[in-house]
Amino acid sequence: MTTQPVIRKEETLDPEDWGALRELGHRMLDDMFDWMETVRERPVWQPMPDDMRRYFTAPIPEAGQSAEAVYQEFVQYALPYPMGNVHPRFWGWVMGDGTPLGVLADMIAATFNPNMGGGDHAGTQIELQVIEWCKQMMGFPQGASGLLTSGGSMANLIALVVARHAQAGYDVRTDGVAVAEKTMTIYASSEVHSSVTKAVELLGLGNKNLRKIPVDDAFRIDVAALRQTLEDDIANGYQPGILVGCAGTVNTGAVDALDELADIADEYTLWYHIDGAFGAMAYLSPEYRPSLKGMERADSLAFDLHKWGYMPFEVGCVLVRDEYTHRHAFSLRPDYLQYAERGLAGHVRWLSDYGPQLSRGFRALKVWMTFKHEGVAKMGRLIQQNIEQARYFTELVEEAPQLELMAPTEMNVVSLRFVVPGKDDAYLDAFNEELLLRLQESGVALPSSTHLNGRYAIRSAITNHRTRREDVEIATREIIRIGEALLEEDWQPQA
Ligand SMILES: Cc1ncc(COP(=O)(O)O)c(C=O)c1O
Repeated sequence: MTTQPVIRKEETLDPEDWGALRELGHRMLDDMFDWMETVRERPVWQPMPDDMRRYFTAPIPEAGQSAEAVYQEFVQYALPYPMGNVHPRFWGWVMGDGTPLGVLADMIAATFNPNMGGGDHAGTQIELQVIEWCKQMMGFPQGASGLLTSGGSMANLIALVVARHAQAGYDVRTDGVAVAEKTMTIYASSEVHSSVTKAVELLGLGNKNLRKIPVDDAFRIDVAALRQTLEDDIANGYQPGILVGCAGTVNTGAVDALDELADIADEYTLWYHIDGAFGAMAYLSPEYRPSLKGMERADSLAFDLHKWGYMPFEVGCVLVRDEYTHRHAFSLRPDYLQYAERGLAGHVRWLSDYGPQLSRGFRALKVWMTFKHEGVAKMGRLIQQNIEQARYFTELVEEAPQLELMAPTEMNVVSLRFVVPGKDDAYLDAFNEELLLRLQESGVALPSSTHLNGRYAIRSAITNHRTRREDVEIATREIIRIGEALLEEDWQPQA
């Protein structure tokens, strides 16, 4: 007896009713544009109430519901509680605020949906063109290579993989780091970003071999101390391999003496990497560019377009001066990833040969569309505008007797604290921490915090094309208001 196969009705994730989803899509776009256009009228950030949080603990749905219902839930439970970085007075950590065109580009990128690991299609051409533009922007030579990354951390990691590969002196891909005759050492200032430390750890180089060199009063690497450490390491049998310069430290925006570091890298045959996660973009400002002199001499450069390029997350970039070295640190071609003479696997460079990711998203499109639409000169003007806003903020802090500047303002980072006469640093740390929390909860402005020379600082990094001068006035007034309210209530730290 033969059994009849059960024929299921075939399904798809395309809508049954394209018209209804199209109508919802138009509404979503209108809502999102309204939301962006009116962002200034809302608090920068507000805490999410517990009942809202609980909403996000529901178990995975077995059956679905209408797209309309799902969207309404997003509007009700998520939309009122953004991170805040889209707002003109968000200056926490270092974040971009996104652009309306970036929104549209990301929508198109998801529609076109190429896998940017490789292949001969328009997506590849667009990313390759963006990389060429990045090279031109940063003064890198024709023969350099690059890759768009998820961000600065991944750009630093990729660059250090290439550096380790180039400096090992043997085939580190085959033999691993364990066989090295000498321990490779890496040099950076004590202000270097944690993503560099993470990269060193991930590479198996060991974070104790990352020599964190002291900084001067302006938080720039102490070049004499660097030289001394290099000499000591050589004398003690280490292999100095990599020098990381900072073009804009996360804490204060300090820029190392990049040209001098390039000379030292030449002298000691070091791989010269620069972490310019946000600062490198200031190269686009003709006024600021001279301060970054030497950046174009790096062997590799990491920077983010989702910070001072104002792009929606995620998109960073790594550039490597020598394309061959870059490719040979990553390229791996099993049978199922072979080039072909023709067809989709045909002749163009495969981007997966330049980093650890095989499948990659189409993050290039938003950059390509934005640069074409705005032009690089305007991007430079916006960056310079943020630098001038940071200077203005600094002036307001210097004029206010209640406030103290905690570091010289380099580029776009302003660090301050509220001073209470007669109180020690421990009290001021706690006081300013409370002040910052209240400021964040007020929704008026959103700096983040750091410690500078061991003292708590309220820190603003302006990488925001929506910020206006009046915003730094509003923020300064609010900081003073909250500080005075704390004094008024005789605020004391919890025991
Ligand atoms: C100097 C510096 N390097 C690296 C990074 C890491 O970049 P991302 O957050 O894009 O991974 C940051 C982030 O703020 C940074 O400021």
